[in-house]
Amino acid sequence: MIELNYRNIRKEVIGEENGLNIQEEFDNYSDKIRQIIADLNSNKDKPGQNLQWMNLGYNEETIWYVKEYAAMVENRFDDIIILGLGGSALGGKAVCEALLPPYWNFLTKEQRNNYPRIFFLDNIDPDQMSSLLKIVNLKKTLINVITKSGSTAEVMAQYMVLKDLLESELGDDYRKNVIATTDINMGILKQLSDQEGYKTFYIPDDVGGRFSVFSAVGLLPFALVGINIEEITQGIKDMDLALKNTDINYNIAAQNALIHYLMNTKKNKSISVMMPYSNRLRFVADWYCQLWAESLGKERDKNNNIVHTGQTPVKSIGVTDQHSQIQLYNEGPNDKIINFLRVKEFDTTIEIPKIFEYTGISYLGGKTINKLYQAEADSTMASLIDYKRPNVTITIPRITPYYLGQLLYMFEVQTAITGALYNINAFNQPGVEQSKNYTYALMDRVGYEDSANELKQKLSENLSIV
Ligand code: PA5
Repeated sequence: MIELNYRNIRKEVIGEENGLNIQEEFDNYSDKIRQIIADLNSNKDKPGQNLQWMNLGYNEETIWYVKEYAAMVENRFDDIIILGLGGSALGGKAVCEALLPPYWNFLTKEQRNNYPRIFFLDNIDPDQMSSLLKIVNLKKTLINVITKSGSTAEVMAQYMVLKDLLESELGDDYRKNVIATTDINMGILKQLSDQEGYKTFYIPDDVGGRFSVFSAVGLLPFALVGINIEEITQGIKDMDLALKNTDINYNIAAQNALIHYLMNTKKNKSISVMMPYSNRLRFVADWYCQLWAESLGKERDKNNNIVHTGQTPVKSIGVTDQHSQIQLYNEGPNDKIINFLRVKEFDTTIEIPKIFEYTGISYLGGKTINKLYQAEADSTMASLIDYKRPNVTITIPRITPYYLGQLLYMFEVQTAITGALYNINAFNQPGVEQSKNYTYALMDRVGYEDSANELKQKLSENLSIV
C-alpha cells in the first residue's frame, strides 16, 4: 500500500512554533474524524451529496462499456485528441503521463504496440491547436469531447472547429471519429450527440469534474491507449477499504487531511506544495493542485459565514525545482507544508559509468542515477528540517495502474475530509462558474446581455486588450 510518513511535522523535529504535537491532535480530533468518515460512507449513495465518485471504482458497467469500445476500435486510429478542461482533462493527463512510457507520442507505432498517440488539448491557444492539426491525420484521429456541463465555451469551440474539419474530410462518416463524454441528463453536448449519433459515455450524477477521473472521463482514454483499467480500479477498491477505517491512527487520508488543516489554521501554512520525485508523476501534481484549490478555496462555510478557506497548492518537481524553488522554501516565509511524493522502485536502473578521475565528479562513477535521485530527495528533506519547514512524505512502491488508482483515490478522500474539517462544500465551484458566465457574456451568448454590457464597460476601464 501507499504510505504516509508525517514525522517531519512533529514539534520534536521542527520545533514548537511550526510543528504539531501530532498524537495529541489525533486524539483531540479522533471523534470528529470518525464522524466525518462515517458520514462520507453513509452518504455516498444519497442523491445530491456529490459523493458518487466514491463508487466509481466499483462501476463494472462503465468498465465493461469502455473496454468493449476500446476493443472495437483497436488499430483503427493513429491518434486520440482529448478535448476537455480542468476536471475533464487533468486526471486523464496525469494518469496517461504516469503510466505510459515517457515520450509516448514520440515512440513508433510498433514501440507503442499499435496503440495510438494521445494529445490532451486542454487549452485554447490557437497556435497550439493549429500545430497539432498539422501533425495528425484527421481521418485516423479519434476526438473525445469531454464536458460534464456540455457547454464549456473553450471545449465546445474546439469541438466545433474539429467537427467542421472532420466533416469536410470524411463526410457523414466523420461521426465514427467522435466520441462524447458528458452528463447523462443535460447539456448541449448530450443533445448534440443524440442528434449526430456519436458514441457517448456518461458521467454519473453527483460526480464533479475534478472527482471524475475514474469515470469514463479517464477510463475511456486509458483503455484506448492500453492502460489496464482493472488494475486501476483494484487499487481504488483496496484503498477505499483501507480508508473506511474510522480510526485516524490507521487512515492515511484522514491523517494528511488533519495535518494540512492544522498546519493551515494553527501554524499559518497557507501553501501546500506537491513535490513528486518522479517526472512521470509531474501531472499528478497538476491534478492535485486543481483538486486542492477548487475544492477547498471557498468564500463561505456551510453556515454561510464568510471564511475564505483554502491553501494555495503549488507544483514543484524534484529535482528540477531544487534548483529554482527550494531557496524560497528553505529561507523564505515559513508558510508552506511540502508533500514529497516518492517512488520506492523505478522501472529502470541506470548506472553511471566510472569514466573520470576528477575528485569533483569521480564519486558518481559506479553509482546509479536512481541512488542519486533518492539522495537528492533525502537531502532536500533534511535541509527543510534544518530550516524547520513542515513536510510529509507519501511513498508509492512503484508506478503501476494499481498504485496510481490508490494514490489518486487517497487524495480525493483526503480532500473530502479536509473540506469537512473546514466545514465547507468541497464539491462546488462558484468561483469557476462566475468566470465561465462572464465568458459567455463577453462572447454574446443569448441570455447574458445585461452582464455583457456591464462587463464590457468594466474591462475597458481595466485596459483589457479585447
Ligand atoms: O472540477 C470542475 O468542476 C471543473 O474544473 C470542470 O471540470 C471544468 O470547468 C470543466 O467543466 P466541464 O466538464 O463542464 O466542461
